[in-house]
Amino acid sequence: MNESRRVGLLGYPVHHSLSPVMHNAAFHALGLAWEYDLIPVAPENLALAVDVLQAEGYVGANVTIPHKQAIMPLLAGVSQEAQIIGAVNTIINASGQLRGYNTDAYGFWQVLGDAAFTPSSYQAVVLGAGGAARAVLYALLSHGFSVTLVNRTESKATELAQHFAPYFDHTIKVVAHDDTEHLQAELEIADLLVNSTSVGMTPHITENPLPPAISLPATLTVYDLVYNPRETALLQAARAAGAKTVDGLGMLLYQGVEAFRLWTHQEPPVDVMRTALEGAIQARTSSPP
Ligand code: ATR
Repeated sequence: MNESRRVGLLGYPVHHSLSPVMHNAAFHALGLAWEYDLIPVAPENLALAVDVLQAEGYVGANVTIPHKQAIMPLLAGVSQEAQIIGAVNTIINASGQLRGYNTDAYGFWQVLGDAAFTPSSYQAVVLGAGGAARAVLYALLSHGFSVTLVNRTESKATELAQHFAPYFDHTIKVVAHDDTEHLQAELEIADLLVNSTSVGMTPHITENPLPPAISLPATLTVYDLVYNPRETALLQAARAAGAKTVDGLGMLLYQGVEAFRLWTHQEPPVDVMRTALEGAIQARTSSPP
């Protein structure tokens, strides 16, 4: 029998998380006596929770809202990627030293590989300038894309553009969310449109983050980070326009795949993890909250 180990999710709230289902299915499939716990931590208790992770010998953890930035100074070290993104979503406990990583950018990019996405103009349009946008922008800029960023609150988009500018040759151009003509022109030349806002998420499933006047070119790949529902109003419109679509389940899956790899040093059972996630999302969609 192998030794029992624990990993957990630090967040507030955490009860809605699909990570336990995905990781526990993977541990089981590989015959590992590991367990993934939910660890609800109010913001004022974060430093204490970090001490508890160390004291109780957790192998590692995931970190979610609202702690992804606040946890960084509490760790012994943070990877360069997490530093630039400005958020940690995964921790490894290496002999009592907690190190922070970010697997969201990896997760975002890996899905495009699975979708056989082949860029030609290396131009992308990203909607949203919150936490999720940071990992998306890092992934796109580090793979050689120029990005047009659109956000309801334009100042947040400008801040992100300035934040990333020193690290990459390619740039982020900010376009106002009501400048429909400019946005349409950017979409005509882009390979990829990414929605990193929460618009369209259950229960607001009829909402679309794009202004109604926009028409989606069939040449685009449209990638929505929302995974509940899997086919959002934006993806429905994209499919109707003949564009390729990518839903948000894959990013959730692959950020977990990479975290699993970091904790266990084993090759994650990706199909088991995907099936577990699909089942959990399906169950959630078909039963009332
Ligand atoms: P996350 O960590 O999931 O990215 P977040 O940091 O709260 O969450 O960011 C949410 C993003 O969705 C923001 O870009 C937000 O726009 P604002 O910066 O203007 O708040 C965007 N968003 C949320 N609701 C929106 C809405 N109804 N219309 C347009 N954008 C919205």
